[in-house]
Amino acid sequence: MPIDLASPARLPMVLPSILSADFAHLADDSRGVLDAGADGLHLDVMDGHFVPNLTMGPALCRSVRRALPDAFLDVHLMVEDPAMFVEPFARAGADSFTFHIEAPRVEDARALCATIRAHGMAAGVSIKPATPAEAITGLLGALDLVLIMSVEPGFSGQAFMPEVLPKARTIRDLAPNLRIEIDGGVSPETAPACIDAGCDMLVAASAIFSKPPADRAGVIRAMRGE
Ligand code: DX5
Ligand code: ZN
Repeated sequence: MPIDLASPARLPMVLPSILSADFAHLADDSRGVLDAGADGLHLDVMDGHFVPNLTMGPALCRSVRRALPDAFLDVHLMVEDPAMFVEPFARAGADSFTFHIEAPRVEDARALCATIRAHGMAAGVSIKPATPAEAITGLLGALDLVLIMSVEPGFSGQAFMPEVLPKARTIRDLAPNLRIEIDGGVSPETAPACIDAGCDMLVAASAIFSKPPADRAGVIRAMRGE
C-alpha cells in the first residue's frame, strides 16, 4: 500500500471511481488517471440488493491490481453482507475496504472492522445521506476512514447533496486525524465545500471520466484546489 491512511491529512486525495471508466479499456483508463495525478482508484461494488445496480466484484479488482501493482485500491462495498467479501477482496489486492453501516447483515460493525484490518486492509464505514453521524461516532476508534455519501448510493452522475456536509464537520471535530471520504457528485465546483468541511478523500466518477483523457489532469488538480 503506497499510501498511509493513518498519517494526518495534507492535500486532499483524489480518487477517481472507475464506475464511469470504459470497462472495455479499464487498464488504460485507470493508468491514465493515475498518470494524471490521481492518488488511487475507487471501486464501487454493488450487489443488486443493497442498491439497485450491479457492478464489479473481486475478479475485476484482481485484474486491476495485476495491471497496476502499485495503485492504491479503495473498495466501497454497497452490498447486504459485506463480511462475506473481506477475504476475497483482500486476496484480490484491495488496500481499503469500506462497508455501509446500514447494510442489513452487519451485526457487529466493530468486529467487522477488526476482521478487515486483520486481513491487511484499511477499515472504512460509510453512511448514506439520511443516516446521522451519530450512527458511527461510537466506532471511530476502530476505523481508518469514514465515507460520507453525498448522493443516494447506486449510480454515478447524480447531483451533489450539500446538506450532508455538517456530518463531515461533526466527524472531523471528533477525530482530527481520521480520513474522511466524500462520494457522490464531487467535482471542481463542489470540492471546495467538501474540503472546507474537513473531507480529505474526494471520490469522483463522472466529473473525471466524462472528460476526454487529456483534460483529466486539470480536473484532478482543480478538485484538490491546486
Ligand atoms: C455511487 C458510488 C460513487 C459514484 C460516484 O453509489 O458510490 O462512487 O461512482 O459517481 P459521481 O462522481 O458521478 O457522482
Ligand atoms: Zn463509491
